[in-house]
Amino acid sequence: MLRFDIISAVPDLLKSPFEHSIMKRAAERDLIHINIIDLHEYGVGKQKQIDDYQFGGGAGMVMMPEPLDAVISALKAERSYDEVIYMTPDGQQFKQNLANRLSLRQNLMIICGHYKGIDDRIRQEHVTMEISIGDYVLSGGELAAAVVVDAVSRLIPGVLNNESSALLDSFQDNLLAPPVYTRPANYKGMQVPEILLSGHEAKIDDWRFQQSLERTKARRPDLLEDQ
Ligand code: ADE
Repeated sequence: MLRFDIISAVPDLLKSPFEHSIMKRAAERDLIHINIIDLHEYGVGKQKQIDDYQFGGGAGMVMMPEPLDAVISALKAERSYDEVIYMTPDGQQFKQNLANRLSLRQNLMIICGHYKGIDDRIRQEHVTMEISIGDYVLSGGELAAAVVVDAVSRLIPGVLNNESSALLDSFQDNLLAPPVYTRPANYKGMQVPEILLSGHEAKIDDWRFQQSLERTKARRPDLLEDQ
C-alpha cells in the first residue's frame, strides 16, 4: 500500500479528486491511503495563524515555519517517509518516469503551498523533493498534488482493472499513445482501420506501435530525442 499524507491550508480542495472512480476504488481496496491534514490545526495562537507578511516587504503572505514544522514532525514521529515533497512551480518538472519511481514507494508526504509559498527554512530542513506540474502558476499546490497522486496511484498494481493498460499509456517508452476506436465500425462514413478488425494480434501490436511512433514524430519529436 502507498500512503500519501497531504498537508494543506485548503483541505477541501483535495477531497473530490479522490472520491470518485479509479482513486476511490484504489482506496477501498487498500492499495492507496490518502490522509489530508488541515494545516490550521497546527496554527499558532488563538487565531490558529499559519501565514504572515514577508520579510523585506512586498505583496503576498508567506506560510510560517512553525505550523509546518509541527505537522511535519508529528507525521515523521509516526512513520518514516520516503520523500517529503513540496509542490512548487520552481521544482523539477513532473514526468511519467518520476510517477513510475514514486509508485514504488511506501510513504509520501506532500506539502501544498499557498500565497507566496512556504518559508524557505522549511524547504531546507524537511523537504527532500520539489515538484512542479508545469510552467504556469496555480493559486495553490493542491491541484498539483492531486495530479501527482492520481498519476502515481494508477501505476500501482491492481489499481487499474487491466494492469497492462498503464504500460501502454502515452509517455511510457517516451511514446504517445496510438489512436483508439470503439463501436460502431462505421461512424458517419468514417471507417475504423481495417487491421483492428482483423483479430491478428501481432499485426495489431505492430500497427499500434507504428501509429505511436508517427504521432510522436508529428506532435512531440522532443520525446524521441529524450531517450
Ligand atoms: N503551485 C503553484 N503552481 C504550481 C505548479 N505549477 N506546480 C506545482 N505546484 C504549484
